[in-house]
Amino acid sequence: MKFFIDTANVEDIRKANDMGVISGVTTNPSLIAKEGRDFNEVIKEITSIVDGPISGEVKATTTDAEGMIKEGREIAKIHPNMVVKIPMTAEGLKTIKTLTAEGIKTNCTLIFSANQALLAAEAGATFVSPFLGRLDDINTPGIELIRQISEIFDIYGYETQIIAASVRNPIHVTDCALAGADIATVPYKVIEQMTKHPLTDQGIEKFKKDYIAVFGE
Ligand code: E4P
Repeated sequence: MKFFIDTANVEDIRKANDMGVISGVTTNPSLIAKEGRDFNEVIKEITSIVDGPISGEVKATTTDAEGMIKEGREIAKIHPNMVVKIPMTAEGLKTIKTLTAEGIKTNCTLIFSANQALLAAEAGATFVSPFLGRLDDINTPGIELIRQISEIFDIYGYETQIIAASVRNPIHVTDCALAGADIATVPYKVIEQMTKHPLTDQGIEKFKKDYIAVFGE
């Protein structure tokens, strides 16, 4: 399973990229708004840091296919690695169909059911983003959705890749890997949490103590 980082914060993107563990970036309108920076400016900076798929979403206020297609073309022009993120609606599917025919990569976002993922794959989406954590939030096991989509895509040989999104903790990450997600997009905090284990910290301390006892500092 590959990792994307789910943020528009360039410092966090740099830190994760330097670790060599991320191969792409996902953003959304809330994450861009959190940074308070111009969309084009921040996206361009991200493309200069990570050499892999960078998802940039159409404006949250644009909901018709015509408008999303226009914006999608502009987003795709920013950099060859750009992926246009489009919400899962009937208008979104029309947008995906058109952009795919033009050779533009798409990420169908806000997927909460296997049927939505099937439609997005049929329309030609490069990626689908099922939201794990938001389902868990409403007492519905999000991991089941990832499992279902993964099974269906395998049965029919869809090339559409599954990005497990709304990943909130390290257990989500392991579950996504076991459920067959192609990619998990995770916030920097979760990447940091994944590096940790109390026995690793204890081990480092013990090695240090034993070494110093014999060889000194
Ligand atoms: C996915 O692409 C979204 O940006 C993101 O994973 C949503 O996560 P959240 O539910 O924690 O906001």
